[in-house]
Amino acid sequence: MTLSSEEIANLDQELSNLQPKQIVKAALEHFDNIAISFSGAEDAVLIDLALKFNKEVKVFSLDTGRLHSETYEYIEKIRSHYDVQIDVVSPLAQELEPFVKEKGLFSFYDDGHNECCSIRKINPLKRKLKEFDAWITGQRKDQSPGTRNNIPVFQEDSFDGANGKLYKFNPLANWSSEDVWNYIKMFDVPYNPLHAKGYTSIGCQPCTRAILPNQHEREGRWWWENEGGKECGLHAANIIAKK
Ligand code: ADX
Ligand code: SF4
Repeated sequence: MTLSSEEIANLDQELSNLQPKQIVKAALEHFDNIAISFSGAEDAVLIDLALKFNKEVKVFSLDTGRLHSETYEYIEKIRSHYDVQIDVVSPLAQELEPFVKEKGLFSFYDDGHNECCSIRKINPLKRKLKEFDAWITGQRKDQSPGTRNNIPVFQEDSFDGANGKLYKFNPLANWSSEDVWNYIKMFDVPYNPLHAKGYTSIGCQPCTRAILPNQHEREGRWWWENEGGKECGLHAANIIAKK
């Protein structure tokens, strides 16, 4: 399906007035070939919602090889709790091995996270997304005032999909962290045990740490880098939109 920019803007406008449950329902109605990208609390809420409409909803998770053991256990917890298939996507050995051979396992502390994120996250994501026409993510506006403030509920993505164009739904765009956690508590959605240890936004183990009181939720990500760099490129559209 190819949508004009007017159709995209209209659908975004229409969906922006709806609650996440209705947005997820609309996403599944508009696209048969759609998947949820799963890594954490927000995405578990999306799975919980999507299963109300489609028991066979597709879910994938990017295994960078550097996740916390708690996160691996959490992926399995979600798989068994919801009886849902999760495609775990790995980096390509032919890209990863020469990189690690040349630069070692912690090069991101010296020359930034972009190269490692490209090999371990972005390239596997691009490869996976070529299977779908659309994807659903757990991004929220208030996760990052610098880069996510303007994320729409529905947008055309900068990556390629199965038929060229790729579309992206961010059903939780207008929800706060508190809204997400209220849902999790109310409906007993499993969450990553690291949240109970002060971790708010959880990525790879070497690039994530717990935050201190009054720090913003993503300050524990790539903490040695400046504010503007706190996107890994999974959501390239946010970075492009900012320029
Ligand atoms: S990131 O770009 O900084 O890594 P963040 O952790 O905020 O992203 O997550 C935002 C959304 O991106 C998640 O709700 C999820 O949809 C997607 N995402 C992030 N990390 C992964 C991952 N490892 N696998 C699949 N999807 C992911
Ligand atoms: Fe590599 Fe860190 Fe990016 Fe994970 S978050 S892919 S370990 S640079």
